[in-house]
Amino acid sequence: MSESLIISEGSKADKYELLLQQVAAVVEGEIDTIANMANVAAMLHETFRFWWTGFYRVIDDELVLGPFQGPMACTRIRRGRGVCGTAWAERQTQVVPDVELFPGHIACSSASRSEIVVPIYNKVGDVTAVLDIDSAELNTFDDVDRRYLEQLVCML
Ligand code: SME
Repeated sequence: MSESLIISEGSKADKYELLLQQVAAVVEGEIDTIANMANVAAMLHETFRFWWTGFYRVIDDELVLGPFQGPMACTRIRRGRGVCGTAWAERQTQVVPDVELFPGHIACSSASRSEIVVPIYNKVGDVTAVLDIDSAELNTFDDVDRRYLEQLVCML
């Protein structure tokens, strides 16, 4: 990714606004979802310097690790397990200010302190994947992240 694509100025909302435009440009004309997930993970990770940014895809009855940026992670998560499995089962974005207070949180890395997980749907409304972002700090994610990330995953 060239330096010119890294957004470093402005408020969080400003960064997401620019990022959405860049993501639209990058995914336009590319139909391969894994390729697009890979670039989206890289762009989010570079922009916000998160601890871990990536996707898990629904394959059969599990979430399977997909494109990501950051340290290695657990490869399979069952429906209803952890934050990712809960987002899938409840079909709702999970904003977790302190992972230690989330019952059943799966600690892929002890450095992860807060996280957000956003479900991704196909045209008939099934969850096909989740976007999982982890921060090494508490209370990183709020409604601004939720709103923009829910918009962003609709582009995939
Ligand atoms: N924290 C997740 C597991 C995935 S890793 O953080 C990359 C969870 O509890 O679902």
